[in-house]
Amino acid sequence: MSGRTWVSCFVASALLPMVAAADPSAARQGELIHLLRHDCGSCHGLTLKGGLGPPLLPATLDGLPAEGLVAIILDGVPGKPMPPWRGLLPEGEVAWLVEQLQAGAIDVE
Ligand code: HEC
Repeated sequence: MSGRTWVSCFVASALLPMVAAADPSAARQGELIHLLRHDCGSCHGLTLKGGLGPPLLPATLDGLPAEGLVAIILDGVPGKPMPPWRGLLPEGEVAWLVEQLQAGAIDVE
């Protein structure tokens, strides 16, 4: 992984609609999945099986409290490459993503 391409790709895909409601709209869900594969995937692996960051598969996330995972995504892990997404992703969208990840609802073919 080199440079900051994930940042620009991310900005292009994420700064569109900021949905504050419970579940993101269907269109926004598609964008979030895209972001997960491409932006999170740059470190966690395109198929989320791990890379620089640990795997984000149900087997690895199972048993971890969802709130803890949401907090890691919002605030990052200080001293580690995991960046904070607060300000870029609203908490509701992060919670939705964690739900999808823990449920294995994301097709990672
Ligand atoms: C620049 C690389 C990088 C990017 C981009 C990145 N992560 Fe991470 N992530 C990491 C690293 C490294 C860790 C492990 C931190 C540690 O050692 O505690 C991590 C940890 C995590 C964890 C905790 C996993 C666990 O088993 O405790 C979650 C959840 C997570 N990332 C989700 C995401 C999501 C969702 C995105 C995209 C919105 C993302 N990450 C983007 C590098 C990254």
